[in-house]
Amino acid sequence: MSSEDVELEARLEEQEVFEPAASFVEGANVSDADIHDEFEENWPECWERAAELLDWEEPYEQVLDDSNPPFYEWFTDGTLNASANCLDRHLDERGDEAAIEWVGEPVDEDNVTLTYDELHGKVNETAAALRDLGVGEDDVVTMYMPMIPELPVAMLACARIGAPHSVVFAGFSADALATRMNSADSEYLVTCDGYYRRGDPLDHLDKANEGLSGVDHDTDAVVVDRLGRNGDDFGHDLGERQHDWGELMADHEGATVEPVDRDAEDMLFLMYTSGTTGQPKGVKHTTAGYLAWTAWTSRAVLDIEPEDTYFCSADIGWITGHSYIVYGPLALGTTTMMYEGTPDHPDRDRLWEIIEEYEATQLYTAPTAIRAFMKWGEEYPAGHDLSSLRLLGTVGEPINPRAWKWYYKHIGDEECPIVDTWWQTETGGMMVTTLPGVTDMKPGSAGPPLPGVDVQVVDTDGDEVEPGRAGYLTVNRPWPGMLRTLYDNDERFIEEYWAEYSDIDSDDPDDWVYFPEDGAKIDEDGYITVLGRVDDVLNVSGHRLGTMEIESAIVGVEGVAEAAVVGGDHPVKGEAVYAYVIVEDGQAESEAFRAEIVEGVEDAIGPIARPERVIFTPELPKTRSGKIMRRLLEDIANDDELGNTSTLRNPDVVDDIREVVQGD
Ligand code: WT7
Repeated sequence: MSSEDVELEARLEEQEVFEPAASFVEGANVSDADIHDEFEENWPECWERAAELLDWEEPYEQVLDDSNPPFYEWFTDGTLNASANCLDRHLDERGDEAAIEWVGEPVDEDNVTLTYDELHGKVNETAAALRDLGVGEDDVVTMYMPMIPELPVAMLACARIGAPHSVVFAGFSADALATRMNSADSEYLVTCDGYYRRGDPLDHLDKANEGLSGVDHDTDAVVVDRLGRNGDDFGHDLGERQHDWGELMADHEGATVEPVDRDAEDMLFLMYTSGTTGQPKGVKHTTAGYLAWTAWTSRAVLDIEPEDTYFCSADIGWITGHSYIVYGPLALGTTTMMYEGTPDHPDRDRLWEIIEEYEATQLYTAPTAIRAFMKWGEEYPAGHDLSSLRLLGTVGEPINPRAWKWYYKHIGDEECPIVDTWWQTETGGMMVTTLPGVTDMKPGSAGPPLPGVDVQVVDTDGDEVEPGRAGYLTVNRPWPGMLRTLYDNDERFIEEYWAEYSDIDSDDPDDWVYFPEDGAKIDEDGYITVLGRVDDVLNVSGHRLGTMEIESAIVGVEGVAEAAVVGGDHPVKGEAVYAYVIVEDGQAESEAFRAEIVEGVEDAIGPIARPERVIFTPELPKTRSGKIMRRLLEDIANDDELGNTSTLRNPDVVDDIREVVQGD
């Protein structure tokens, strides 16, 4: 959706209600029907319940310090260490139990089980090795790694020594890596030689090296030999200041490192995410608030217990993996699974095979994956025993009721509650969802806000809209897991998230409202249906991509004069990238040039941003003031009836473009 999309039309469909099965409610971690009221009456002290899930070195003084909004501080003066909370404290009871069950993509791979003792040992050795390389407290360590066990090991090692990590999704390009390392002044990189994709080894270090060549300061890199395990590698020689992970570990065998005492508000990690400008935003999360939030929501919403084998199919390169593969589950001492590959390799039943083999108890995945499963057919899950599953979850984008019901029936056998969890990189963890042991489910609607969370649907003036009407989602109170700022950019933090609905000159927290930039509607029962982004950000397969970022990649291709990017509906991806391109005089509008544009986007961002269609057009629809009317381009992409064209400087152009799109 575009920002002009003020009159969002709500999808008013008759909503069915599903009650959680009694068998689930009986054993649920949270089944107290009054919990929403209790938290309301006791806010913000209700969040002590989350803080109690952690072990503190020094107890905190105050739950919330809101004296300087929007720079809220939680659990002030408390100290703790995230790695000690995820590992050390579990060793007595869970030392021999699996912390991580890792499944490699190749089917004949030796999968890896890391018990809590083993993971603790590896994290200590890695922490010692990183320290010897010079990593000190508050130095940002970048990780550019696929789904291999060394990624969470490195993250927890950083947490142990108080060095914030910044994980860059392995599918991002070399340029994207360089931009993030430069922005965070990060002098250390942990990466690997390569990994497997659909059966073939894929080079990764070449891309990492290319990224490093774009970093404007000196760096040390640690390189994991992932492919060497199977005897294939790309014959890389490590450069100067590049260190072999295996050798470093051998040098530090048996080393132990005392977890560094961190202040509650100290940065645990940075995570870059797309916004409306070309520059990605470095979202800062803290040690106590974030960890308490992910632990609490993992317990209350995902219903995780230590004895579970919990499976989240996200990539740790995104926030879902940080919060709900690594930190939340490990803080609770459970077994968390990691799968390196794609769900359709070697066949379309790979996830179901893994769930059956490991007897996974929860599955947390994305609507885009569910739509793909649906398309492949129910015979794939039907061929496996999925009866170990107790709960299903989704995240990343709205789930349409049809996909919800398919998931409920064919994966959950109508026994497992589904939690449709709305949240963002910035919120650190879940914000709007049903509690599986308390609340009824309505397919297509995420549910009410979590207890203690104040979310509203408002109009452009910030007034609450009537049930059923579309408006904008706002969060009207701070929460422990919230981002604290954008790295090195407090101004942009205020401008991006608060300015829209807050009185930014006020010191009164009641005058501060967080704006997530999503459209939504709320029903009579307070259930929220999220309609999608209202800024120029696309959601492709549950991943956030800024249209400006893609546009600037396209105009960087020689021969392109101008470009506009919008989202077109896509049956599996949700949204697909549509690029409207004006070529420079003399540049042929050829297939070869299309391919160059696609390659330009892949080089600048990565394959996830690859345009589904590149549409050559002589002009773009513009208002008299010269603003591109993205909304009309979206209508064309989706073959919808055209919105208002009366404010256009060049109204004829839309018909011309539509002809091009339909003719292609
Ligand atoms: C955006 C955040 C949260 C981790 C994955 C994405 C959309 C997320 C839902 C949901 C409808 C959803 C929103 C949000 N979104 N969950 N359950 N229903 N929309 O993290 O990249 O920070 O993207 O994803 O538009 O703003 P992200």
